[in-house]
Amino acid sequence: MKSIAVIGSGTMGCGIAQVFAQHYYSVVLIDSNKEALDRSKKTIEKSLDIQISKELITIEEKESTLNNLILSSDLQSINSSIDLVVEAITERLEVKQALFKQMDQLSGPHTILASNTSSISIHKLSEVTSDPSRVIGMHFMNPVPRMPLVEIIQSKSTDPTIVDQIVQLTKNLNKIPVVVNDYPGFVSNRILMPMINEAIECLGDGVATVEGIDQVMKLGMSHPMGPLFLADLIGLDVCKFILEVLYEELHKEKYKAHQLLVQLVNEGHLGRKTNRGFYDYTDPKNPTPLNF
Ligand SMILES: NC(=O)c1ccc[n+]([C@@H]2O[C@H](COP(=O)([O-])OP(=O)(O)OC[C@H]3O[C@@H](n4cnc5c(N)ncnc54)[C@H](O)[C@@H]3O)[C@@H](O)[C@H]2O)c1
Repeated sequence: MKSIAVIGSGTMGCGIAQVFAQHYYSVVLIDSNKEALDRSKKTIEKSLDIQISKELITIEEKESTLNNLILSSDLQSINSSIDLVVEAITERLEVKQALFKQMDQLSGPHTILASNTSSISIHKLSEVTSDPSRVIGMHFMNPVPRMPLVEIIQSKSTDPTIVDQIVQLTKNLNKIPVVVNDYPGFVSNRILMPMINEAIECLGDGVATVEGIDQVMKLGMSHPMGPLFLADLIGLDVCKFILEVLYEELHKEKYKAHQLLVQLVNEGHLGRKTNRGFYDYTDPKNPTPLNF
């Protein structure tokens, strides 16, 4: 595999495109929103600059990474020469299915179609394509350049040889693949999201402050960051979307998004990406926990 298309240049798409480009793949990063594309260029450059400051890469490696990367607002940039398309757009089944139909029409018969979905059934995405055996989940973790895991989701239709190819590709990116089956939320979010939701419920019930809840989980459970800080990093809208999928599919109260999460999303407070969620990020180096 040489040629990769990543669709969606938000939190995840930027990181995914960067990691492929850093490993010498030619990457086209596509977003329908021009402003998002402009932001993505800055995000990727900033991330590479941080790696330079930590002496993880050289200035030459930054330049070669940027040379491997093209930004496009046109979905027609996908064609039969692309080996793999990784979709990383909004966590909505209908929106992703509409895109998978287009990805299928534009790509070639050998192109593998992957989704970075956090919770949506890979089988349901594959059903709208002409060849469900080429559809797979490639669930990168946030922030992509730093996190070693890629959860690989095989649906009942995914061809086992495609699973093998994606496992190898993941290793080529210096990441660790774990293959799981196609259940809502897979392993990662089926466990993580109820924990985040419970942390929000603790906050809503007045059990502790934002800082208190996060400190208990950091210092007492050895989590590298607290669940509310993590929710802000993931994006509160993304957390809500994932909980909605889990609730619709698994029908258990524990997956019902807490009212406070719904309220913050309705108010446009989506976490780090809007500078406000459970913390205020006006000074990004010094996030301030908010009072609820
Ligand atoms: N945020 C996380 O921590 C995280 C972690 C793992 C997986 N995911 C999953 O990754 C996917 C993307 O999440 P995100 O946080 O990067 O979202 P985001 O909101 O930051 O970015 C989504 C981007 O997709 C673009 N987009 C939407 N519809 C499009 C279309 N039809 N064609 C082209 N571009 C389109 C938007 O303009 C936006 O820039 C979701 O499925 C999410 O569940 C997110």
